[in-house]
Amino acid sequence: MHKNNADIYDPQFVKGMFDRMSKTYGLTNYIASFGFTDRWRRQCINDLPFIEPDAVGFDMMSGMGESWGEIQKRIGANGQITALDISDEMNRKGKKHLKRFKLKNIKQRKLNVLQNDIPSISADFIVSTFGIKTFNLGQQKIFAKEINRILKPGGVFALIEISEPNSIVLKWSFMFYIKMIIPLIGRLLGNLEGYQMLGKYCEEFKSLRIFHGYLREEGLNATFKNYFGGCATGVYGTKSENP
Ligand SMILES: C[S@@+](CC[C@H](N)C(=O)[O-])C[C@H]1O[C@@H](n2cnc3c(N)ncnc32)[C@H](O)[C@@H]1O
Repeated sequence: MHKNNADIYDPQFVKGMFDRMSKTYGLTNYIASFGFTDRWRRQCINDLPFIEPDAVGFDMMSGMGESWGEIQKRIGANGQITALDISDEMNRKGKKHLKRFKLKNIKQRKLNVLQNDIPSISADFIVSTFGIKTFNLGQQKIFAKEINRILKPGGVFALIEISEPNSIVLKWSFMFYIKMIIPLIGRLLGNLEGYQMLGKYCEEFKSLRIFHGYLREEGLNATFKNYFGGCATGVYGTKSENP
């Protein structure tokens, strides 16, 4: 429980946190990660297995659309991205961002991905970048089930999240950075609380290793990957043609 007795994994708590952080999220992310998050997003989307140019699918926990440009490079003008996010404010910023794209093949929906009305077997691809750390293990299990339910046979997926690195030295420096320096940057930009919470989520989350196991339990062909010594971890793969 959070100090105010809030359940930090309650989707409404997470929504409120991102609503408040939306004003500074883009800038903090940019300054604080030295461009690493951009590079990792790109690598994650490049790791999506083969995808048809007219593919339709989802960017889950899409934030302000940080991944849309990279997804468009994979699916071209005839593909379609539906971007899902629970936060009104992140979606509002995403809508502004949308105006800057030449290709208009992106629809936004406000939705809790853990409790959704998306039809089964409806997606050729699912992407999710830096959204899963605010899920506890029970929610990660539900999310793995949802990915399997929503993907068409032969559909592909790729997800990435900030993680605790493997080596002690890297782990210590990285966690110091996430728990001390990022909140400091957040404080300078006017939202200490949100960035302190992000440190807490990262510490609890560790990596996508367990989620990788959940995807495999669902029968998905999932590969686990470390990025930069495990400072981020990813999973990518396919749903088999004959599940
Ligand atoms: C750290 S941001 C990541 C945004 C973006 N994908 C990126 O690469 O920067 C996490 C996003 O996940 C959204 N989110 C968290 N839990 C969610 C849920 N249950 N359903 C939908 N969106 C959720 C938040 O509102 C937030 O915009």
